[in-house]
Amino acid sequence: MKKLIVANWKMYLTLRQSVTLAKSFLPTTSYLLHTQIVLCPSFVALEEVAKIVRKIKNIKLGAQDVTPERHGAFTGEVGLDDLRELGVEYVLVGHSERRRYFKETDTVVNRKLRAVLKVGMGPILCVGEPWNIRRAGKAQSYVEKQLHAGLRGVRSQDLKRVTVAYEPVWAIGTGRADSPKDASSMHSYIRKVVGVKSMPILYGGSVNSSNAKGFLREVSIDGLLIGKASTNFNEFSKIMS
Ligand code: PGA
Repeated sequence: MKKLIVANWKMYLTLRQSVTLAKSFLPTTSYLLHTQIVLCPSFVALEEVAKIVRKIKNIKLGAQDVTPERHGAFTGEVGLDDLRELGVEYVLVGHSERRRYFKETDTVVNRKLRAVLKVGMGPILCVGEPWNIRRAGKAQSYVEKQLHAGLRGVRSQDLKRVTVAYEPVWAIGTGRADSPKDASSMHSYIRKVVGVKSMPILYGGSVNSSNAKGFLREVSIDGLLIGKASTNFNEFSKIMS
């Protein structure tokens, strides 16, 4: 199976910078033979990046978030119909930055995930424990709880369209990635909890060109969710190749 590499550009790039970065992918289709790339620009950059990505096989479009509301008086929100019109196929839900800074609860995350599934897109459910929980040896039960809450009410045939991203909170943006061995054992645990053999499970948290191969070598790691390192084309192309 091709490894899935998801680039989360967060709020690192302006519209113009996002377009420039997306264009760098145009002449680079050879390594896309063994990887499937998903680019997640900001909402503002989605439309322009979509125009570029449409021309490149094996690069798909993702959104960093979405509202679970369908339509109407929700000032400031961006809805699934907009994302669908732009050709978005994946949506991140429950990223730890959303949980932490925007107080998203498991209930909100679950509503978002189900809304994404309902319109036929693929949610990427982000889970991961803070450092005090890891240190206390309770990471598995913490992640298990997030999985059950995030996937509540999802029919088993729809579970196949969910991707899970394991991102230990203490590893995100800190330069201190998990070890491939520990991440891999958490991935196996997640697979056991969810019970879907074919579900892609990604690792995220301080992935860069020096440590990416170590994660990708693990059979239980189906791909990567990359923040900072995905905003630099040279760095990202080393990870993809
Ligand atoms: P990072 O972010 O690669 O910058 O640590 C990963 C993520 O938050 O998805």
